[in-house]
Amino acid sequence: MRNSRILGVGRCVPERVVTNDDMTTYMETSDEWIQQRTGIHERHFIDHDTGASDLGVVAAHEALERAGVVAEDLDLIIFATLSPDVDMPASACLLQDKLGVGGMPAFDVRNQCSGFLYSLSLADNFIRSGTFERVLIVGGEIHSSGIDLTTRGREVAVIFGDGAAAVVLGPSDRPDRGVLSTHLHAEGKFAEKLWLELPGTRTAPRLTIEMLEAEDPGVFPHMEGRYVFRHAVTRFPEVIKEALDANGAQVSDLALLIPHQANLRISQMVASSLELRDDQVFNNIERYGNTTAASIPLALYEALEAGRIKDGDLLCLAAFGAGFTWASALLRW
Ligand code: ACO
Repeated sequence: MRNSRILGVGRCVPERVVTNDDMTTYMETSDEWIQQRTGIHERHFIDHDTGASDLGVVAAHEALERAGVVAEDLDLIIFATLSPDVDMPASACLLQDKLGVGGMPAFDVRNQCSGFLYSLSLADNFIRSGTFERVLIVGGEIHSSGIDLTTRGREVAVIFGDGAAAVVLGPSDRPDRGVLSTHLHAEGKFAEKLWLELPGTRTAPRLTIEMLEAEDPGVFPHMEGRYVFRHAVTRFPEVIKEALDANGAQVSDLALLIPHQANLRISQMVASSLELRDDQVFNNIERYGNTTAASIPLALYEALEAGRIKDGDLLCLAAFGAGFTWASALLRW
């Protein structure tokens, strides 16, 4: 069995920066409340009609260039998103067309905040088994057009931002380098704690004027914030330890933990419960908010740019999100 490794990373965020003060023009909130509860200072929102694959294709081009791979040589395209361009077909298919290629398989992974790590695990297993050589994974989200930007929706709306990031995965020439292991979990009984109910197939018709005009319309994401918080700060350390244990490693061996950027307070509590030093954890939620499936590759991109990852470093990626789902990956860079 051969390992897979990340050959190149790319990203794309919309130009428009929306500060916490800007959010106060939409809803009753404050810079102080948002920073204190989430650590977020600003996020990026699209300023014209843009689909997740429009950001994704820019990130993909950069990842391909950095990997030294041409799109024609890709064997598989995976798009991780909770905000696909359209309900069908997959954003991965739209992205494939935007890359000007065709023929290779392309599909979406709809697993929210854990979507990137679920995709990484799939891609890694395809490469380990020898099925594919070059896999493109894109995490891309357009949240701003799907959240309730009024006081009613403020608990959710202040958290999310738009963005995309991509990695190209290929076989590693060394068994001790690259993706060492991936660990995936889900607990569906908590689905309603963080979900977007409508439109869906549970109701016929799927969408009515009454549904849109309801006091708490199901067309916007619903989150029981404190409940999600409590589970996140338990599952993150658990799944990080699972990855370390599977490889006979200790917390002290970690050069860097890149957690899904859900909330700075969650990352800080996870770091403190694992007794990680500040320099062992990478966060960039301050500038992007929570970009869901894009958040881990976006943070990975910035950690690399900032020189925080060196050859041979042990790296842990970890996520928790809707489902509930949670996941981790241990990598030797
Ligand atoms: N601005 C100002 N006030 C607000 C806002 C806002 N944006 N949102 C809520 N409030 C108010 C509430 O109405 C409430 O007012 P009340 O006391 O008069 O009723 C007050 O602030 C406190 O609300 P709480 O829900 O108790 O605030 P809490 O400290 O729990 O923080 C938060 C809310 C930030 C959502 C927190 O619960 C949290 O971080 N949860 C984790 C969820 C998370 O990180 N999700 C990430 C997305 S999901 C994912 O990535 C998987």
